[in-house]
Amino acid sequence: MPKVRGRTLRVLFDAETIAARNKELAKEIAAAGYRDLLVVSILKGSFVFAADLIRALHDVGLAPEVEFISLSSYNSGTVSSGKVRLTRDVDNDVSGRDVLLIDDILESGRTLAFAKKLMLKRGARRVGIAVLLEKPGKLAQPFKAEHVGFIVPDLFVVGYGMDVAHAFRELPFVAVVEETPARKARAGAPGSRAQARATRWLRDAGVSRRGSRGRAGYRSRREP
Ligand code: IMP
Ligand code: MG
Repeated sequence: MPKVRGRTLRVLFDAETIAARNKELAKEIAAAGYRDLLVVSILKGSFVFAADLIRALHDVGLAPEVEFISLSSYNSGTVSSGKVRLTRDVDNDVSGRDVLLIDDILESGRTLAFAKKLMLKRGARRVGIAVLLEKPGKLAQPFKAEHVGFIVPDLFVVGYGMDVAHAFRELPFVAVVEETPARKARAGAPGSRAQARATRWLRDAGVSRRGSRGRAGYRSRREP
C-alpha cells in the first residue's frame, strides 16, 4: 500500500480504473445530447476529475466551454450546517445554455443542489450533473446525478483532487487514509496527552470528530 506523509493509503480506485471510467462517462455525456454545452467545475475538489473529463469529452467529439465556480459549506461544531456559500462565480451568462456541473463527490447533495438551483434560477435550459463518486444513502434531500463514476462506501476518501486540509490532492488515485492501531489506541484513551494531540491533529486537518463511531464518525469541514 502506498505511503504518503507517513500515512498508509488504501487505494479504492487506481489511475487506470479512473481513466477507463472517464472514457465511458464521456461517451455517456455525449449520448445525452447536451447542446451549446457549458461545463462548470466546482472548485476545489473537482479540478483533477474535471481536467481529465473535459479531455475525454474532446476525444468523443464534444467542444464545451469550461468555467469554474467555488462553493463552500460549513459544519457548525459536529453537525453539518447545510449552508452553502458561493465564493467565486462563473463569468458566463448561463441563460439558455445547457450546463454540466462537475463535482468530486455527491454526498448530502447540498453542494450540487445549491449549484443546480443557481444555474436554473439564472435561466439555464438544462443542468446535468457529473460526479466522480457517489456515497449512497447520505442525501439530505432527493437529488439525482445523471453521470456517476463510482459508488463508494461511507468512508472519507482522498486523492485525485480530494483532500484533508488541502493535502493528498496530488494523488493519481482515490484512497482511504488508514488508521494505524497505535493512532487508534492513542486517540481512544480519554484525557490522555495523546488524545489531545489527536484532537489537535484532526482540528488542524479540518476534521471534527463526531461521537465515538471510529473513522466513519470523522467528518470533514467541507470545502467542495
Ligand atoms: P455534499 O454537499 O454533502 O454532497 O458534499 C459534497 C462535498 O463534500 C464534496 O464536493 C467534497 O468536497 C466534500 N466531501 C464529501 N465527502 C468527502 C470525502 O470523503 N473526501 C473528501 N471530500 C469529501
Ligand atoms: Mg467537492
